[in-house]
Amino acid sequence: MNHFDIGQPTSVTHPQLLKEGEITPGITSDEYLSRRKKLLELLPERSLAIIASASVKMMTDVVPYPFRQDADYLYITGCQQPGGIAVLSGECGLCMFMPDPNPQEVTWQGPIAGVNAALGTFKADKAFPLHRMDAILPEMIGRASKLFHNVKTALPAYTDMEAFRRAICNDKVKDLSRYTHEIRWIKSPSELNLMRQSASIACQALLQTMSISKTIPDENMLSARFEYECKMRGAQRMAFNPVVGSGANGSVIHYSRNDKKIKAGDLVLMDVGCELHGYLSDLTRTWPPCGSFSSAQEELYDLILRTNKDCVKLCKPGVSIQQIHNYSVEMLRRGLIEIGLLKDDRSISLHYHQLNPTAIGHYLGMDVHDCSTIRNDRPLEQGVVITIEPGVYIPSSFDAPDRYRGIGIRIEDEVLITESGHEVLTGSMPKEIQHINSLLSYGDGSVVDTHDLRTAFS
Ligand code: GLY
Ligand code: MN
Repeated sequence: MNHFDIGQPTSVTHPQLLKEGEITPGITSDEYLSRRKKLLELLPERSLAIIASASVKMMTDVVPYPFRQDADYLYITGCQQPGGIAVLSGECGLCMFMPDPNPQEVTWQGPIAGVNAALGTFKADKAFPLHRMDAILPEMIGRASKLFHNVKTALPAYTDMEAFRRAICNDKVKDLSRYTHEIRWIKSPSELNLMRQSASIACQALLQTMSISKTIPDENMLSARFEYECKMRGAQRMAFNPVVGSGANGSVIHYSRNDKKIKAGDLVLMDVGCELHGYLSDLTRTWPPCGSFSSAQEELYDLILRTNKDCVKLCKPGVSIQQIHNYSVEMLRRGLIEIGLLKDDRSISLHYHQLNPTAIGHYLGMDVHDCSTIRNDRPLEQGVVITIEPGVYIPSSFDAPDRYRGIGIRIEDEVLITESGHEVLTGSMPKEIQHINSLLSYGDGSVVDTHDLRTAFS
């Protein structure tokens, strides 16, 4: 058992986070072994997979941006640090090339995992310092009949090798993500445990943020509050930069400036999520922090809520995101025609995509838009997590009565596909107007007991 700090939590250095036998919180070394076995079974015979860790991106010459590991590298190795390259084959098992020890870097950044951690903690079959890769990897590449690598994270340390270039010329090199996504798509029971916890933290944090929103009606402060509440509950970071769009900013789908004060009568749309030990949450709620829904806001909110609920009901094995999307488009089209925002066939084909340019949802897991190589028309299976996020986004310049202009509404939930149907992982978050109104009028905007509220809204 390694008692030294290896640059990331272990069950010895951080017993509050990991049980014995776990490599990362909630995921055992047996599970990591079984992931590698599954990947090797999926790959053609005599394949070699090269999986690079993510690179550190620099803000200035000496100041790095916060580091986030490549999801495939983390999924296969459990190593949360930059600088390594993992190689997997039927012949060698997992071989990890670990960053060379550099006393200067240790002085500035602290200890990092090396060869001993690769063998002892990550249970690699072989491990070498990175400077030996030039001597070892070309021969492994030469023996392989096919070569796979995580193209988006590729590192020159191996792509510049003569042997790798030759393999490209011989058409032996392919993207690995098609195969890793295949395994990552269906979550194991321990992954689902982490997904549930991540969703629960995000729900509690957003509930707290909503409940104080009338006392701090400022986009950036609501973003800060959400992040604080997530981290106080154990999340490591945000899943993505929170979207806190008030008024017309709510119709900018990935709005990230978050620099406006929220005006009386405006809705605010918060699309947020956190990361818990590599697993992400993603949910959206829209509400009027300073006041109540106007009749135009309520009309549109009601359409989006009905679409959200009907689409959630469709979630079950055998149905695809594409089918749910098509259903949502039909429902939204009809609703927007009834409200009078779309009129004849010409205005529908011209303007529908302006009012609703997004897909109904996406897969969710270690990445926000998880397993992006898996098509949306693939029938869903038990253990897949998706989002359902219908929205309507009416630009301020849209040709419509004033009362509708500049309204942006999205209601997003996370849905786990189960054997018999689905489970809404974000089901504790209020979305009915009457529940939102009672939350907003609950007390004086001070922090609330989330347990009481969850019980009240479930
Ligand atoms: N919530 C971010 C997205 O789905 O794109
Ligand atoms: Mn989403």
